[in-house]
Amino acid sequence: MPKIKVALVGVGNCASALVQGLQYYGTRSKDECVGLRNPLLGGFHPKDIEVVAAFDIDGRKVGKDMSEAIFAEPNNVTRLADLPLSNVVVHKGPVLDGLGEYTKHVVQISGHPEANVALVLKESNAEIVLNLLPSGAVNASQWYAEQALISGCAFVNATPSFIASDAGWAQRFEMAELPVVGDDLIDQVGSTTLHKTLLRLLSQNGVHITETYQLDVGGGTESLDTLDRTKDVKRAIKTKSVEAALPYAAAVVAGSTDYVDFLQNRRDSYFWIRGVHFCNVPMQIDMKLSTVDAPNAGSVLLDVLRAVKMALERKLKGAVEPVCVYGFKHPPHLVALETAEKLFGQFVTEE
Ligand SMILES: NC(=O)c1ccc[n+]([C@@H]2O[C@H](COP(=O)([O-])OP(=O)(O)OC[C@H]3O[C@@H](n4cnc5c(N)ncnc54)[C@H](O)[C@@H]3O)[C@@H](O)[C@H]2O)c1
Repeated sequence: MPKIKVALVGVGNCASALVQGLQYYGTRSKDECVGLRNPLLGGFHPKDIEVVAAFDIDGRKVGKDMSEAIFAEPNNVTRLADLPLSNVVVHKGPVLDGLGEYTKHVVQISGHPEANVALVLKESNAEIVLNLLPSGAVNASQWYAEQALISGCAFVNATPSFIASDAGWAQRFEMAELPVVGDDLIDQVGSTTLHKTLLRLLSQNGVHITETYQLDVGGGTESLDTLDRTKDVKRAIKTKSVEAALPYAAAVVAGSTDYVDFLQNRRDSYFWIRGVHFCNVPMQIDMKLSTVDAPNAGSVLLDVLRAVKMALERKLKGAVEPVCVYGFKHPPHLVALETAEKLFGQFVTEE
């Protein structure tokens, strides 16, 4: 199979889990790929994905081999695999709005000169730019989308900045005849998906939900940035997505709430659901989900990267809706979970 050549923007926890996952699954046969939703997708195995370039701003990562940079502080994701040298050196990109009030004390800006990002993308033969910048880095995310356009790369936006779901940006990728997908990646064991599935199950069984919330706390740098800059936008995205699971209006709140440093990369999500069932008798669910944040993105990222490669091979352009609805919380058009599954299934199997 041809390699899927990916450039990473932001060598944080999520990038670390992805790179470690590529090593972990790279040597395993299809049947040994436990923990992946799709060991093979469109004929591609995870070993067909290759990281060919990486960009960051932190002095503990820039200038280092990627195999070393992914373990540098403040990354705190669990060690999942031992890595050989990758021969991919992390380049410095422009800082722009990469740091917020809280994270500027955590990230140490590198003194290295800035790389010519578009040139690095071209020389590395990258075909997909994967945006893993902090969620508050809206301008920087747009700047990297611009670099993808200049370099003829597809763009995957895992962050909650609006690129694929923004009609203007989607049109620019369409005009450049390149695919774009996003925004805000869905986790493998996602609190939003779990919440929606529970609500749907209850409402299908005739329970009338009156109020529900889902709030979570985490200890990664991303949770700190969220606390500072993107709590509201993330809450709006999640709440809208959860509301769509019920066929009627209810009081819904869903989103991140706090940063707890000793949790490291762990995330605790709390769910509370109240409703009435037979003869207006009340029922309540109080539940907690504990996950490690970055590995939770891995399986969906592997699927999305392989699907975008398929989009490139099929010469699709603009926002690729079946991939957006399958892999992201804020696609251009929100659809029901079953519809997203169906659309993605058709996309993967069509010739
Ligand atoms: N489960 C998940 O991890 C998950 C799920 C959904 C969405 N996401 C999104 O993925 C993104 C990355 O999450 P993370 O946990 O890896 O965050 P992180 O804070 O660990 O990593 C961000 C990285 O970007 C770097 N950076 C900051 N500004 C930069 C710039 N201008 N140029 C280049 N690099 C820069 C930082 O130094 C850091 O290494 C976030 O936007 C998050 O919302 C993650």
